[in-house]
Amino acid sequence: MSAPTDRLENGTPTLELRGVNKSFGAIQVLHDVHLKVYPGQVTALVGDNGAGKSTLIKSIAGIHPIDSGEFLFEGRPVTVSGPRDAAALGIEVVYQDLALADNLDVVQNMFLGRERKNGFVLDESSMEQAARDTLAKLSVRTLKSVRQLVSSLSGGQRQTVAIAKAVLWESKLVILDEPTAALGVAQTRQVLDLVRRLADTGHAVVFISHNMVDVFEVADRVAALFLGRMAADVPISQVDRPQVIELITAGRSGDLGIAPADVAAVEV
Ligand SMILES: Nc1ncnc2c1ncn2[C@@H]1O[C@H](COP(=O)(O)OP(=O)(O)OP(=O)(O)O)[C@@H](O)[C@H]1O
Ligand SMILES: [Mg+2]
Repeated sequence: MSAPTDRLENGTPTLELRGVNKSFGAIQVLHDVHLKVYPGQVTALVGDNGAGKSTLIKSIAGIHPIDSGEFLFEGRPVTVSGPRDAAALGIEVVYQDLALADNLDVVQNMFLGRERKNGFVLDESSMEQAARDTLAKLSVRTLKSVRQLVSSLSGGQRQTVAIAKAVLWESKLVILDEPTAALGVAQTRQVLDLVRRLADTGHAVVFISHNMVDVFEVADRVAALFLGRMAADVPISQVDRPQVIELITAGRSGDLGIAPADVAAVEV
């Protein structure tokens, strides 16, 4: 297996944003944001609290549609004005507070709202098989049974189910909002491995994290937001850890980042 830094940016990005702006009332949260996310790659989206990471992914997911700018998917300009538009393109978001139903089992959760039917009855065996196949494809071995209730799963296992659910729907772009934030060491390892496999199976992956160890372990690119502006969106091989921290905290590091005048303008 080649190191993440060896992966090339081949061809067209799955997602490209150009000059995206987003305001809530009088408050502008995203300023002229550019972003490129490639298939087969993990892009780490980093930034301080309040930098606009969640707003950006909610814009991509159609929850907070962009006000202006260009949204390209697989090279084509698209309009995403709601979550359905995003889902139809193959965009899946795994939120930090996972939308899993505790009282349902793994299969039921993975098919929630999109159940397979055979005539009027649910096609349980087909759904169960598809759930197993998806987990196997992602080399998930930590679940005892796909008929286990989600309430009985650990935090890491829940993340696994949520990610597998996104994969089941033939998603092209999977966005994970801090998937390892609440996890212990072993579970973090499992989820990071899964994030890597997600990219290795051809998905474009966006991974929000505050943890630089995780970022440098799993990411191919890093996109750093500073006060709603994209300070840098570069291959991870072009930056080291201190530089990424500088981009996060100051919006600038060496030649990379927001022009000093612009930093001054947003730091009001
Ligand atoms: N619905 C909203 N209405 C008004 N302001 C909002 C709304 N959502 C977010 N904001 C503001 O936008 C800015 C960016 O918030 P956002 O949640 O995107 O940050 P974040 O980078 O995800 O931070 P964290 O790391 O803490 O999760 C904040 O100043 C926040 O107060
Ligand atoms: Mg957030």
